[in-house]
Amino acid sequence: MTRKLFVTTALPYANAAFHIGHMMEYIQADIWVRFQRMQGHQVHFVAADDAHGAPIMIAAEKAGKTPQAFVADIAAGRPQYLDGFHISFDNWHSTDSPENTELAQGIYRALRKNGLIFTRNIEQFFDPVKNMFLPDRYIKGECPKCGAKDQYGDSCEVCGAVYLPTELKNPYSTLTGATPVMKTSEHHFFQLSSPRCVEFLQQWTQQPGRLQPEVLNKIKEWFTTDELGHGGLADWDISRDAPYFGIEIPDAPGKYFYVWLDAPIGYLASLKNYFGKGGPKAKYGEARSFDEFIADPSVEQVHFIGKDITYFHTLFWPAMLHFSGRKVPDNVFVHGFITVSGEKMSKSRGTGISPLKYLQLGLNAEWLRYYIAAKLNNKVEDIDFNPDDFVARVNSDLVGKYINIASRAAGFISKRFGGELSGAIAADGETLLAHLRAGRDTVRELYEDREYGKALREIMLLADRVNEYVDQNKPWELAKQQGQDARLHDVCTVCIEAFRLLTIYLKPVLPALAAQVEAFLKVPPLTFEHVAQRLGAHGIGEYRHLMQRVDPKLLDALFEPAAVEAEKPGGEDIAPVITIDDFGKIDLRIARIVNAEHVEGSDKLLRLTLDVGEPKTRNVFSGIKSAYKPEDLVGKFTVMVANLAPRKMKFGVSEGMVLAASHADEKANPGLYVLEPWPGATPGLRVR
Ligand code: 2FM
Ligand code: ZN
Repeated sequence: MTRKLFVTTALPYANAAFHIGHMMEYIQADIWVRFQRMQGHQVHFVAADDAHGAPIMIAAEKAGKTPQAFVADIAAGRPQYLDGFHISFDNWHSTDSPENTELAQGIYRALRKNGLIFTRNIEQFFDPVKNMFLPDRYIKGECPKCGAKDQYGDSCEVCGAVYLPTELKNPYSTLTGATPVMKTSEHHFFQLSSPRCVEFLQQWTQQPGRLQPEVLNKIKEWFTTDELGHGGLADWDISRDAPYFGIEIPDAPGKYFYVWLDAPIGYLASLKNYFGKGGPKAKYGEARSFDEFIADPSVEQVHFIGKDITYFHTLFWPAMLHFSGRKVPDNVFVHGFITVSGEKMSKSRGTGISPLKYLQLGLNAEWLRYYIAAKLNNKVEDIDFNPDDFVARVNSDLVGKYINIASRAAGFISKRFGGELSGAIAADGETLLAHLRAGRDTVRELYEDREYGKALREIMLLADRVNEYVDQNKPWELAKQQGQDARLHDVCTVCIEAFRLLTIYLKPVLPALAAQVEAFLKVPPLTFEHVAQRLGAHGIGEYRHLMQRVDPKLLDALFEPAAVEAEKPGGEDIAPVITIDDFGKIDLRIARIVNAEHVEGSDKLLRLTLDVGEPKTRNVFSGIKSAYKPEDLVGKFTVMVANLAPRKMKFGVSEGMVLAASHADEKANPGLYVLEPWPGATPGLRVR
C-alpha cells in the first residue's frame, strides 16, 4: 500500500544562521524521507522559518530593519545550507504568512468556541521606557541571595540560587536599563488543565507507535500531581501584548498570539502554501485540496523535533489540533543534541563547527551525512562529532569498504570488455549477490525504525563480504593470467552488481553519490525494488572517481577558532550589559580635526589637534596611522571621548581618545574606520 506522509522538521527561529544542530535534524529527517520515497511512498516534506516573537522583534530593531525585512534576510540565507547538504524539502515557508495567520486564527476561534480559552489578569514586569512588557530574559538585577550583580531573572550564575524575576534586587531592563514596574494586563489562556484535555492527551500519548518509550516516561512525569494537587498540566498563557511581532488575536485588539502558539501551526501553513503552488498535484497527481488532504485519516503526520521542545509538540500541539476539530499528529519523533568533541553547544551560537564553513572548505556534504547517520539511533541520545572518528569512518568505511569495490572492478570492465557486464555469473558470485539481496529487509526495517547507525553497520558488513570476494579472486592477478578472461569478466561483473546493491542501500544517506553511480551504471533512479533486479549483459559508463578520502588537514581548518569568530559580530562577544547610567559616565563629543601630523619615531600613531568647542584645542595621539594620511584628516569631524583621564605617553600627553571601528582580530581582518558624524554637527556637541 502506498503511504501518504506529511513530514516536518522543527521550524528554526529566523534570527540566526543554521548551526550543526539544525543540520543534524534535517539530515536525520531527510534520510527517512528519502527512504520512504525510495519505497514508492508519497511524501510531503516541509518546513518554514519561525518568524515571530519578542527576540526577533528586538533583534530586527537593533539591526535597524523591520521584522519582516529582518526575517526575509535570514530566509535568503537558508538555501545554501539546505541545498549544500542535499536536504530535500518540498517546501520552505514562513510562520509570518497569510496561510499561518488564517490557520492560527481559525484554530483559536475553534478552541474558543469549544470553551477552552479563558482570560485572566496577570502581573508582569513592564519597561516604562520602551513601553512594553518584558519577557523574563530581558530582566536582570542583583541576586536576592548573594547580591551578585547582573543576574538573570530566573537564577544566579554566581551562587546558583533559583528565584522569580520579581525577587531580584534593583531589577533593570536589559533593553533600556530602566527600572521595570509591575503592571497588570489581561492574558488569554488555553485550558490545558481541563479534564477533557488531560484525558485526551493521556490517550493520545499512549497510543502505540506515537512516541518513543523514554519520551512517554517523561510525559508521565508531567501528568503527575502530588498529594496536594500540585504539578500536572498547567494552563497555557497564549497571548502577548503589543508591541509584539506576531499574529493578532481575533477580537482582542493589541493582543498577539505567543510565538509558540503559531509556530507549529506553521507546519500546516507550509503544507497549505505548497498545495497552493500546486506541488502535490504536480508530483503525485494529488487532486484534493489542502483541507481535504490534511483531514484524511490515512495521511500520516510525522514531526521530527529536538528533545528541548517535547512539551510543546506532545501536549500543546496535539491538544490544539484535537480540540479545534483537526486530525492529530501520528508520530512525534524526538532526537538528542549534537556535541562537538564532547562540548555542549549553545542554542544561540552553536558549536565550533559552522556548516557553511564546512561547505566552503570543500568538505563533501555526504561525508557529514554518512558520519551523522552512522551515529544516529532512535533513542533520545546526544551524539558527538569527533574529528578523528569522522576521518576514520569516512576513510575506512565509506571510501575504503564501499567506494573501493567499484574502483577495483570498473577499470577492467571498460578496458577489457568494452564496458559491458557479463550476462552469466558463476555460482560463487550468485551466492554472494543472494546474500546481499537477503539483507534488504533488515536494512529496510532499520531505516524505517530510524536506526541508521545499525543500518550502516549492516551495510558495511555486506561490503566486507564483497571485499573478501575481491581479495579471494584478485581481479588484478586474473587480468595478468592467460585464459582467465571469462573469470575476470565474471568477477568484475559481480563486483559491479554488488556495488549497485550497496548503492541502493546507501542511497537515503548518499543521494548525490547515488545519482553519480546511476549515471555511471546507466540505470534509472535506484529504488528498493531494484534489489531483485539483475543488470545482465548491460553496458556501463566509464568509471570516474566517485569520492575522495578526507584530508585530515581540512578538518583542522574547520576547527580553527576563526570558525567560531566568524559567528560573533566583529569577531567578539558583545560586552556585558551596562545600564544607561553607566553609559552616561562616558562623555562623547564632536571634535573637529584642526591638524594631523606624523609622530617621529612611531609607526602607529598620528598626533591630532582637536577642537571640542573649548577655548583651547586638545592634543590626542591616535593609533590610526596605518589607515589614514594626515592630510586626509585635517578639517574632518569625528567623535572623541572627552572625559578620559589624560595619559602620559612617550611622545607627550594625550588628552582624550578618538573613536574608530575595527575587527577583534585585526591581523586576519584588517581595516580601521574613524567615526564621522552626519553633516551639520559642530564641535563640542555631546553624543548621547
Ligand atoms: O526551538 C525552536 O527553535 C523553535 N523555533 C521550534 C519551533 S518548532 C514548531 F513548533 F514550529
Ligand atoms: Zn546569587
